[in-house]
Amino acid sequence: MIRTLVSRLDPRGDRTGTAGDGARPPGGVPRTDPALPGSFPALTDPSPPPAWSRLRRLARSPSYGPKARVRLISCRPSDPAALAFEHLRGHLLRSLPGNRIARIAVIAPTPDCGSTFATANLALSLSRISAFRTLALDLNLPRPGLAKAFDIRGAGALEDMLTGAHPPEKHLFRIGETLALGLNDRPVANASALMQGDAMWDVLDGIQNTLSPDITLIDLPPLLRDDTTRLVLPMVDGVLLVADGAHTTSRQIAECERRLSDRAPLLGVVLNRAAEGP
Ligand SMILES: Nc1ncnc2c1ncn2[C@@H]1O[C@H](COP(=O)(O)OP(=O)(O)OP(=O)(O)O)[C@@H](O)[C@H]1O
Ligand SMILES: [Mg+2]
Repeated sequence: MIRTLVSRLDPRGDRTGTAGDGARPPGGVPRTDPALPGSFPALTDPSPPPAWSRLRRLARSPSYGPKARVRLISCRPSDPAALAFEHLRGHLLRSLPGNRIARIAVIAPTPDCGSTFATANLALSLSRISAFRTLALDLNLPRPGLAKAFDIRGAGALEDMLTGAHPPEKHLFRIGETLALGLNDRPVANASALMQGDAMWDVLDGIQNTLSPDITLIDLPPLLRDDTTRLVLPMVDGVLLVADGAHTTSRQIAECERRLSDRAPLLGVVLNRAAEGP
């Protein structure tokens, strides 16, 4: 079971501390990073499939944005909070079932615990591994947040892609060579109907086949507040639970574990804003 502590970010936007500065040089992380033993197996063919290469590519790189609603701390790899995501990345990759593509759900017990923050930062951390393809999908359909996290306007309605009305290549795009994003700027009122139907899963299976991501991170609504999350669980390989160190109770975590049991393996718990905890 993965256990990761992510500290609370300084509200002024400064660094959360100095430990770890210089631990990782800027730029890409090779697949054979010695800090992550045995963690970068050749999950899929390292050369990207044509469909991946053809995805539209965002011109600018994501930036940290101290005033952003969700801070992309992983853009500053030497920040201690970013190092927490690097550790999470290493643990996650080690826990993946060998030689297969994985769909990982990122879920919080209640709103505002930081599931979007964790999805975005973990995706950025994974995207620094060369020749490892990460797809991050915003399936918090009632309350999408990933587009804002990446500060991307005009992301469009993900529902159009999920219903098959628009082909994935019209909606998805890439940031750099190794990260693709499925964002949403229009909340979906009746998300459970969409999630219960086969059409959405056919589309997602098709994406898996054509784009061949090594890992797909799916940001979902809070498990204890939104029934749609339950519908996704049978379709994922594992769950990362993001708890709020200041507000989530052990009872809520236990209730999440109960709801996950028999539905999806709980790979780990991220204790977010750990410094605010008791
Ligand atoms: N470790 C942290 N330090 C400081 N701020 C944080 C931290 N984690 C999350 N936040 C902030 O808390 C707010 C809520 O985070 P986020 O949007 O990721 O929560 P969520 O679980 O996705 O919420 P929702 O239920 O709306 O989907 C955001 O403004 C985010 O930037
Ligand atoms: Mg969110």
